[in-house]
Amino acid sequence: MCSNATFIVFALFLTLFCDTTSSECTQMAPCICTLPDGHYYNLTGLANELLLNDTQGDYTVYFHPCTNVQIMTESGEKCDNGNNVSICMFNKYTNLTSNLGTIKETKMKMSSGNKFPIFEIHHDKFISVINIVCFTDSKTNFKIDSGIPPSGSYEYHFLLVSPYGCKIEPLKGLSVGSILVILFFTVVGTYFIGGIITLRILRGATGWEMLPNHDFWSKLPLLVRDGIVFTFNCCRADSYERI
Ligand SMILES: *[C@@H]1O[C@H](CO)[C@@H](O)[C@H](O)[C@H]1NC(C)=O
Ligand SMILES: *[C@@H]1O[C@H](CO)[C@@H](O)[C@H](O)[C@H]1NC(C)=O
Repeated sequence: MCSNATFIVFALFLTLFCDTTSSECTQMAPCICTLPDGHYYNLTGLANELLLNDTQGDYTVYFHPCTNVQIMTESGEKCDNGNNVSICMFNKYTNLTSNLGTIKETKMKMSSGNKFPIFEIHHDKFISVINIVCFTDSKTNFKIDSGIPPSGSYEYHFLLVSPYGCKIEPLKGLSVGSILVILFFTVVGTYFIGGIITLRILRGATGWEMLPNHDFWSKLPLLVRDGIVFTFNCCRADSYERI
């Protein structure tokens, strides 16, 4: 009962600390997502680049990240009847285009395993997964990563290699560590000051008795001393035995 408050303080501290260790990337804009530690990805610059494309067999896939545009194939076919889309597949053999998705249908998040960010685009039966690879020494490059069409599924995999795909340092500010330290001292301060005021007013405590859980805190130095003495004795006993 006496150390309940102490326990809650430490439990709160641990919970906060553990929460920050997940690494979801929270999408802030079509091409921006932010990690819990403040690092972020920003591929918005790709909106101004030329339409990306890659061909495999009869299939050509056109991709315009971050914004929808009117996509026209080399042979002059308009994708999705001229509607603005972000990703489009053209089959040279059938002369048909398929809208694979728009920006609204695009989610930016981390790959499973949290290794790199991806765009995941769901449109009707189609699922397109675009792995974003950071590469500072090249122009932006778009590649079909799985056979098209893949047997029995409508899930396509692509690679987007780009200098825009790199993780960006957060602007200087408070780090997670310093926020936790400030929080810790705030909680500890509230615990002692709040406790002292409460005990003073409710129980009319005076002197050391105003300290919340003062039994525990006044015994703590003794417990620490006992611990040190115990450890020290233990090791000495150990070396005696060896001699
Ligand atoms: C993201 O990049 C674009 C273009 O490079 C830039 O205009 C924009 O300010 C950036 N946004 C953030 C939040 O860094
Ligand atoms: C469609 O995209 C083109 C650029 O390709 C743009 O000029 C036009 O405003 C867009 N239309 C709509 C309805 O968003």
